[in-house]
Amino acid sequence: MILPITQYGNPVLRVKCEPVTPEQIDDKFRTLVADMIETTHEANGIGLAAPQIGRNIQLVVIDIPEDEEEEGEQPEMAIVNGEERPISTLMPLVFINPTIEPYGKQYLFTEGCLSVRNIRANVARPDRVKASLPQLDGSVLEIDCGGLLARCLQHECDHLNGFLFVDRVSSAAKLTLTKKLKKLAQGY
Ligand code: NI
Repeated sequence: MILPITQYGNPVLRVKCEPVTPEQIDDKFRTLVADMIETTHEANGIGLAAPQIGRNIQLVVIDIPEDEEEEGEQPEMAIVNGEERPISTLMPLVFINPTIEPYGKQYLFTEGCLSVRNIRANVARPDRVKASLPQLDGSVLEIDCGGLLARCLQHECDHLNGFLFVDRVSSAAKLTLTKKLKKLAQGY
């Protein structure tokens, strides 16, 4: 089922999300996860955090399609539980209650968000991430990655703390965004 995506101005995008407890993970929860993945695909997104579908819980889905990679380019790799793997083998990536540690050099990348329609902006973030990503089955994925996945993990985990990418743009860029954001907030 396609879920409505909450839009900029909705207060649910600004709350600190609650951890998911093992008791919460039932068939209904798994259906919610499947619906979030379907909703991400339908919106041509690569990731979705629970506040974006109106839930203040620490749940994220990420699905980076392989065709995001340039032809002839080496597949994007990640170290997963100590083993190097193409990130495509992790997709769709679903996790709860993440802890992430961005590291490395800051770099600028143009971000967008399904909850902030028609706005894209350059955001500086570290280029690598180490993260512990608990899975629905109780196992934990320990990941060390760069590239688009590192970017996406930081963007999505920000959502779980009530942050949006537009909070992280330079103050000069923020000036040009303010008017557009006000307009979005009025219409959400
Ligand atoms: Ni987003």
